[in-house]
Amino acid sequence: MIDTPTRRVVLGVGVFAAGSMLAIDRSLAQAPLATTPACHDGDEVTLPQTEGPYFKPSSPERFELLEEGMAGQPIELVGFVLTRACKPLAGALLDFWQADDKGRYDNSGFRLRGHQFTDAEGRYRLRSVVPGLYPGRTRHIHVKVQPRDGRVLTTQLYFPGEAKNRSDGLFRRALLVRTAKNAGWLAGRFDFVID
Ligand SMILES: [Fe+2]
Repeated sequence: MIDTPTRRVVLGVGVFAAGSMLAIDRSLAQAPLATTPACHDGDEVTLPQTEGPYFKPSSPERFELLEEGMAGQPIELVGFVLTRACKPLAGALLDFWQADDKGRYDNSGFRLRGHQFTDAEGRYRLRSVVPGLYPGRTRHIHVKVQPRDGRVLTTQLYFPGEAKNRSDGLFRRALLVRTAKNAGWLAGRFDFVID
């Protein structure tokens, strides 16, 4: 069975589990993340990055990419899609794709691929595994973000504390996911800012 992390994920508390404060580990609660988007008017837009060779259109609509028996560190990544004026965007499309724990993409099927839409508050939630390394690249998750009637932002998200961040020419600090470990899950937070 896949255990549900929702009540224990710290970084997600402000976004999806406001009622679960009691479940927060004390050490992590000392540095809580904002319950609202951490941005201000005129914020920098999220950097675009190359799509790479492994994007496939027509991914299934789902936020749960984790499958039973899937190897790797489970992660719940949450956040907002925002305008530069810090306004949450409802109904924005997010299409995620990534390598598995061994650094392999599923190019014949749709394993670890899925799209979803932000809710009325502009929030998204992805459950997956931390992607593995493959030659030349540090750990990363690919994503396309598109507001209703807006242009597509293609980019990649990175993980803090990765040795390979230093040698991967595509790596950008601005695209780091904020993370915290929580009861076997990695909690991640990233807010997209769209022009
Ligand atoms: Fe990749």
